[in-house]
Amino acid sequence: MSRVYVTRNLPASVLDRLGGLEVSIWQGDGPVPYETLVHEVNGCDGLLCMLTDRIDVMVLDAGKDLRVVSQMAVGVDNIDVSVCDERGIAVGHTPGVLTNTVADHVFALLGSIVRRLPEGSAEVASGSWGEWDPFHLAGGDLWGTTIGIVGMGRIGRAVATRAEGFGMEVLYASPRSRSEIGRRISLEDLLAKADHVVISAALNDATRGLIGSDQLALMKETAYLVNVSRGPLLVTNDLVDALVGGSIAGAALDVTDPEPLPADHPLVGLPNCLVVPHIGSASVQTRMAMANMAVDNLIAGVEDRDLIAQFRSWS
Ligand code: DGY
Repeated sequence: MSRVYVTRNLPASVLDRLGGLEVSIWQGDGPVPYETLVHEVNGCDGLLCMLTDRIDVMVLDAGKDLRVVSQMAVGVDNIDVSVCDERGIAVGHTPGVLTNTVADHVFALLGSIVRRLPEGSAEVASGSWGEWDPFHLAGGDLWGTTIGIVGMGRIGRAVATRAEGFGMEVLYASPRSRSEIGRRISLEDLLAKADHVVISAALNDATRGLIGSDQLALMKETAYLVNVSRGPLLVTNDLVDALVGGSIAGAALDVTDPEPLPADHPLVGLPNCLVVPHIGSASVQTRMAMANMAVDNLIAGVEDRDLIAQFRSWS
């Protein structure tokens, strides 16, 4: 019987599907400690992991019998994919099922920061809501503006579709992918022209630190930045400087570097910055679909079948 390790407790309806396997599950709160993971993966044929687990060469050495690493996320930057490739370990992920949920979230974040909802909500909560005032908490608009999408994969295209509905002009920068909606331009031109910049590119060696002080300096002073990809695409300290110095209008971040972001971090509490805790795909329906897809990939991998969704470097 194949043996698998699951690094987070998942709903029973999902785990019940692993009935034909010998299953161990991390039962603690939060992510499995790294040392525990290294210990547990020994002798396993399959691993079902989360984006919070570092699947590096030491884990892969310990799991020398692994045939599949199945991640419950679309991004796999926490996994040493090249070592998996070298060793013939299939890497599964969960593309597609979360696309629309994350794209919806982009507009939740963008609408909130542009229309100053966190400031308004804080004002009501603190009891300082005064009389109606003509320009009180006046923000920007979504309609009639230009959105710049950095990374035109599935999520980028779903953002573009929604942006059309808002009456936005769509620009995008993407080295390989194309979209029927919008105009492809260079990253530099996009940053200079867009009223709202959305980062939806995958994190890899080419995109780490993609947006730092030089790129932020190209943006309009009235522009907003949204990141739903991974924190390290943005240079955090440079973003703090841009927000404090007013070289951009605001930012809404689903992901940060570091993650979790400490409550006393300079980004937290800035009136022009909204930070939420990596919840882009967190609708119940979508998280269930992701968990089930990760199980599908795990079972296929230990049965030596093709995965439903195998990560490839350009996928
Ligand atoms: C992913 O899937 O990579 C997200 O960040 C979590 O949904």
